[in-house]
Amino acid sequence: MLAYRHAFHAGNHADVLKHLVLMRVLQHMNLKEKGWRLVDTHAGAGGYSLEGEYAQKKQEYLGGVARLMDLPQGGLPPAVAEYLDFVRAFNGTSSRLKQYPGSPAFGQMLMRDQDQLRLYEMHPTEHKILDSYLGQQPGVEVHMGDGFAALKAQLPPPTRRGVLLIDPPYEIKTDYARTLAALREALERFADGTVLIWLPQLQLLDATQLPQRLKATATAKAKKGWLHARLTVTRGDEHGFGLLGSSMLVVNPPHTLRNELATVLPFLAQAMDDGAAAHLLESSG
Ligand SMILES: C[S@@+](CC[C@H](N)C(=O)[O-])C[C@H]1O[C@@H](n2cnc3c(N)ncnc32)[C@H](O)[C@@H]1O
Repeated sequence: MLAYRHAFHAGNHADVLKHLVLMRVLQHMNLKEKGWRLVDTHAGAGGYSLEGEYAQKKQEYLGGVARLMDLPQGGLPPAVAEYLDFVRAFNGTSSRLKQYPGSPAFGQMLMRDQDQLRLYEMHPTEHKILDSYLGQQPGVEVHMGDGFAALKAQLPPPTRRGVLLIDPPYEIKTDYARTLAALREALERFADGTVLIWLPQLQLLDATQLPQRLKATATAKAKKGWLHARLTVTRGDEHGFGLLGSSMLVVNPPHTLRNELATVLPFLAQAMDDGAAAHLLESSG
């Protein structure tokens, strides 16, 4: 049942958008001393080898993070430059791009002593890798289980400063309805918490309807509105099928994010263009 392995896709255009937004949101949280909790409901393995068999199969990172690495570094928007600094830091002393950090790694690189990571992963192999990488770190809990069912235990955080990342594979149809239900539950528990939801851009009814439904829920329940950032890179196959791009819905976003993404999104669309570069930036209110 759990066939999805994120290593096939690590570092692609969708990861770039997701992790750049996650980075900026956590950096914004770090402007205040009070500790935060990041709940990552679909954590994956934490980090991925780009030289391994899975990542090499389709080499999706070559159209994503590797393209950005190849650009003249002087002209990058600040958020892109900082995102790439984190990717380089994850690669340690290697000057080559060998590893790609997943969302738990971004969380770990950005957390301070007073912050907490709560990571959920259901795939036994991914969980094992994640647990051996981060399970013993202070402030980190790695859980093997259903991340959608974790909200009751994790929200609101004791400090009432928190970020929820919902990043399902959407390979099973129920992920769409469960994501909507999770946003509802999260906002009922914690109406001013920041929620990040990754959304695939696909020619499927479920995928085209979900952003509208999530935005309506956020409009009704979130204290500080929402922001929706979409990055399209390809037309897909001859029928328009395949992952055309992706978007991030940020509920209760940092107030600085919209202005910054207004520069970053067109830049990323052009840099990672695979024949159909486009972007969309919309927000409530
Ligand atoms: C898109 S990947 C996560 C990538 C990761 N968030 C990142 O950005 O590096 C989705 C992960 O969710 C896991 N998964 C699927 N359903 C789950 C569920 N209900 N609860 C927890 N993990 C789940 C899959 O095994 C997969 O590793």
